[in-house]
Order: sequence, then structure tokens, then C-alpha cells
Amino acid sequence: MADYRIAALPGDGTGPEVSAEGLKVLEAAAQKTGFTYDLQTYDFGGDRYLRTGETLPDSALEELRSFDAIYLAAIGHPDVKPGILEVGILLKIRFGLDQYINLRPVKLYPNVYTPIKDKTEKDIDFVVVRENCGGLYRGKGTVENEGTPDEVATQEMIYTRHEVDRCLRYAFEYTRRRDKTKMLTLCGKTNVLTCVYGLWERAFHEMGERDFPDIKREYAHVDAVTMWMVKNPEWFDVIVTGNMFGDIITDLGAMIQGGMGVAAGANINPEGTSMFEPIGGSAPKYTGQGIINPIACILAGQMMLDHLGEIEAADLVEKAVAKFLATTKLKGLSPAEIKASGLTTAKIGDAVAEYVASG
Ligand code: IPM
Ligand code: MN
Repeated sequence: MADYRIAALPGDGTGPEVSAEGLKVLEAAAQKTGFTYDLQTYDFGGDRYLRTGETLPDSALEELRSFDAIYLAAIGHPDVKPGILEVGILLKIRFGLDQYINLRPVKLYPNVYTPIKDKTEKDIDFVVVRENCGGLYRGKGTVENEGTPDEVATQEMIYTRHEVDRCLRYAFEYTRRRDKTKMLTLCGKTNVLTCVYGLWERAFHEMGERDFPDIKREYAHVDAVTMWMVKNPEWFDVIVTGNMFGDIITDLGAMIQGGMGVAAGANINPEGTSMFEPIGGSAPKYTGQGIINPIACILAGQMMLDHLGEIEAADLVEKAVAKFLATTKLKGLSPAEIKASGLTTAKIGDAVAEYVASG
């Protein structure tokens, strides 16, 4: 029997292209370090939805629950109304499998272009722990008198103490394990969203004081966090925040670490099945051109290996990615630059896989 059962969801647009490279590197890591896995590929995404009207059936969700990990590339199709696939597939998996942590490292690798002048890899290396199942994403919404001048729309931000506590505990433990400056920053908005972020702030200090005296606690409003992420990114070690703020600040994070082509994340249920994905979307306009950057997907695979406990393999993949990035002469790795350089999605995957094999 194989060591792991992995479900692959290549998804839409350029998803299958980056997925192929991620799987290539996974296989190289398996060959090199000796673990084995069974791979099952699912075709959930826009094309299947347009063909069958089905997003992700409940039976498939139950099937996914039985895997050791899920490796997703991208969901989103230009011919499908926004929201259908996101809610019907991506969020359905996150919520259904209770992947309540979204772990998003913001790390600038050497030689990768950051738009922040004078900042280097020494300055940009922190991790965002985004609560992934609650808040505005799960709150109810209503629309009354739609289409009239009296229209009223609501969308509620709801958090329970339990949801906040389990996220905070993960973040504190992660900060301790990471062992960098041992500082956890709570990103909130206690000056306006007094109820919800009041709860987060109280829970944060109570837990920190009681269970994590070795971890420094800082609080910052989300607007200030975006400012400091640009001005003083070196100040951060680990940031913990709610779902909506986490969504927004991690796109900013992706930009300062070199763009969507390198930003990876993990949807984690510490007690269940977790899912690993590049942060970027399906980039449909680049589909089939072989110029999309697969590094984010490869790094999502690296996070998956780390999560599975294949530490040696995870380290090899990260070193291989760093080596590849260090040897490219590109300013960044956008599709336009990849195209101009003569590189392709597959050549990048080949190079990283080779470095894993020889690492
Ligand atoms: C992300 C994405 C998703 C989110 C969308 C596609 C639902 O933006 O993973 O950050 O908002 O969480
Ligand atoms: Mn997002």
C-alpha cells in the first residue's frame, strides 16, 4: 500500500498546466526520498459544470474526506457567473472539510523581484494565518427590494468564540514552532468592528497570557497592517486575522513576494484532510500558451509535503525552487516575461524537478 492517497484537482484555465508541473516535482521528490503515493484526479471545475450543471456533489466531498491531502490548482471559468464555482467547489471543500486555517507564507526568495524598493529576502519573510471558515464568508446575507431605490442589502460578519479560539491556538502554536522572532500580530479593526474584533482581541490576549507567555503579542488595525506590509514588512513574523481581512492582505502579500506566480497557501484542518493550492486564480486568458508560472503550485506541493511529514522532500523542493529562482535572470516571472525569455511552464517544472533529483 502506498504511503499517501492524494486527490488532484487541476481545475480550470491554466490550472491543469501548473498542476502538471506540481505533480512532476512531487514525483521527483518521491523518487528521491522514497515515499509512495496513489493519485486520483478529479475534473471538478467550470468545464464540467457547463457540461453537467454539477459543481461538487456531496458524494465527492465525502470521497475527498478520505484522502491524506488534496492538491488543487485553480477554480474559475470565464463562461460561468462569478460565485458559482467559488462557492460550489472551493468554499464547499474548505467549509465541508472544516479547513479552518488558511496558511499563507509571504516569502521573497533571493533574486525574485519585489516592487518594494530597498527590501530584500531578509525583510520579506512572514506568514499569515487566515481564519478560513467563518466571518463574512459564512455570515448570512439578505437583499430586500432588489432593483428599487429602497434596496437594502446585508452581509453579516459572524464569529463564535470557538472559531476564534481554535484559529488563535493554531497561530500561537505555529509562531512557537516557526521560532523566528516569536511575535504574533493580531490584525483586526477594533475601532469600528467593535463586536467581532473585540471578541478576537479579548480571546487573543487571554489565550496568549495563559498558554503562550513565550510569544510576544501585538495588535494592529488592518489598514495599518497594509501600510506596514509595504513600509516595514520585516517587522512581521506571524499575522493572525479573520477571513475577509486575510483574503485581502494575502493578495498584497503575494505582490510583495513576487506576484501570484510564486504565492502558495494551505487550507488546513489540523485534525482532518487539508488542501494545498496556489493563491492565484485560473488566469483563463493565458490558457494553453504554456507561459503561466508553475512555481506557486510547486510551492503548494512543498507545503503539502511538509504537512504530510515528508520534511526531507519538502526541504528538497524548496531548495530546488530557490535554486531555480536564483539562476533565472528574469525580473519577475509573469507570463509576459516567461514568454519573452523562451522559458515555458513545462521547462520551469523540468528544471525544478531536475534540481530535486540532483539535490
Ligand atoms: C482566495 C480566493 C477565494 C477567497 C475566492 C476564489 C473565493 O480569493 O483563495 O483567496 O476569497 O478565499
Ligand atoms: Mn483571495
